[in-house]
Amino acid sequence: MINFKKEIANKIAEVTKLNEVDLENYIEIPPNSELGDYAFPCFKLAKDLRKAPPMIANDIKENINIDGSIIEKIDVVGGYLNIYINKESLVKTVLEEISEKNEKYGSSNIGQGKNVVIDYSAPNIAKPFHIGHLRSTVIGGALYKIYNFLGYNSVGINYLGDWGLQFGKVIAGISLWKDDYDFENDEMGSILKTYIRFNQEEKDKPELTEMARKCFKKLEDGDEETVEKWKHIRKISLENYEKTYKLLNSKFDSYNGESYYNDKMEPIVEELKQKGLLKESQGAKVVDLEEYNMPPCIIITSAGTTIYATRDLASLKDRINKYDFDKAIYVVGNEQQLHFKQVFKVLELMGYEKYASRCTHVPFGLVVDKTGEKIGSRKGNSVFLEDILNEAIEKVKGIIDEKNPNLEDKDEIARKVGVGAIIFNDLSNSRIKDEIFDWDMILNFQGETGPYIQYIYVRTRSLLNKAGYIPKLEEVDYTKLNEKEAIDTLKLIYNFNDIIQNAADKNEPSILARYLIDLSQNFSTFYNEHKIITEDKTVQDARLFLTYAVRNSIKNGGRIIRYGNA
Ligand code: ARG
Repeated sequence: MINFKKEIANKIAEVTKLNEVDLENYIEIPPNSELGDYAFPCFKLAKDLRKAPPMIANDIKENINIDGSIIEKIDVVGGYLNIYINKESLVKTVLEEISEKNEKYGSSNIGQGKNVVIDYSAPNIAKPFHIGHLRSTVIGGALYKIYNFLGYNSVGINYLGDWGLQFGKVIAGISLWKDDYDFENDEMGSILKTYIRFNQEEKDKPELTEMARKCFKKLEDGDEETVEKWKHIRKISLENYEKTYKLLNSKFDSYNGESYYNDKMEPIVEELKQKGLLKESQGAKVVDLEEYNMPPCIIITSAGTTIYATRDLASLKDRINKYDFDKAIYVVGNEQQLHFKQVFKVLELMGYEKYASRCTHVPFGLVVDKTGEKIGSRKGNSVFLEDILNEAIEKVKGIIDEKNPNLEDKDEIARKVGVGAIIFNDLSNSRIKDEIFDWDMILNFQGETGPYIQYIYVRTRSLLNKAGYIPKLEEVDYTKLNEKEAIDTLKLIYNFNDIIQNAADKNEPSILARYLIDLSQNFSTFYNEHKIITEDKTVQDARLFLTYAVRNSIKNGGRIIRYGNA
């Protein structure tokens, strides 16, 4: 595909004798196409060229060598060059690429041979899998596929919270209240109720907390009966999560969670000690981080046990050995910002600077309702993910029954649309913002939603079906795609790989999600204004090919964000 930015940078470099790569990085895409297809901000060159930006702009325009085949026209507006590219070469290059790469359109192989380890989902077993974990699951799943699409080898790790005091609580709680719940028929629900009740009752009964501690200690010491109980709770919980993962189509390459590292802690503590990083502080052993404006990172608590950070360090070393990663990404809520800063800093101080610099915490905001209240924050009002997904599917079924009762595969479509809508809602806003959860918005087929994109996608498919063929590229007359709406759509398609790349650079799937909305809206404007199936065969062929290009782009992008990473 022609790289327009590179071509432009090349020509500006000929005039200014400045570095081509820098010049290419300065090139912008204007907010609307009236201002050109690309814009070049000349103030970036003012220092080097010792001239005022409007003068630089004029100089470049006067001296640049353009023959019209790539750059058609340049306007000077203030200190900017507004650059218009040749539309026919745009159309030609996009359509050729679509025809050549098909299902792979937009992908690349820049990540070839590199491992990206993505830590996501990571619910805490025996505690509810709540809506907050949805964000990690969905954002992590999208990143997994984004990196894959760029040629990286993605490794998805579900670092289960399968170790800790919560098991002491649940095991102790069950021994006390076994007969109060229906363990026989609803084991998972009963486990969760026990956990919630334990937390409430221990507030007035410190002896309960003591009991839970003892129970967990027994587990840590390997008491056979307790270990069996733990194994059973873990198994039941995982089976339960699997149902949710299946709905979301999430997959993981490893389920090594906290418990996996429990007996692998000694070497890391020993290494920290040998490197002179451990300090005594109020009975605990810590790595002092005062120099870096952070509180100390606790490695061994005053009770003599290891802790969340210790386990993360052990797992990091394990991931270095196993994957020699190029990137390690942690998709975890914003509230764990400090934890990850500390862990990455300790890794660096241990001498693994190279790997520490490859670690990134990818944080995200809360899920709130229309009024701004955190969902699931009220007591006893834990919202379960599986219930929400099933509710979405039911609601979509209701909509189908009302509007299109004879639809085939109703259940399958309701599942795709319902789950897709929830996932899209999660991904379409920048991840650090709180996500607003509002059914009317999520399921609005006309809004900026998953169902809207699916609707446009189905449109493209039915157009192609109606025509009964996909034209051959050789038969397409590029000059027939000259309307503004067609060009705008093609420009977006041209940008697809850039968008994926940008989403990866910023670990921000919303860039791709917004893009798909944009593309769908542009195409929708096109077919509202211009008939696709028409008498003139050459016009029809060109428009059908455009439809095919849109279909492929939505399909490729949609696959990345809609269905987890399966
Ligand atoms: N289980 C933790 C939680 O729900 C998240 C774990 C994230 N991953 C990690 N390597 N610390 O808060």
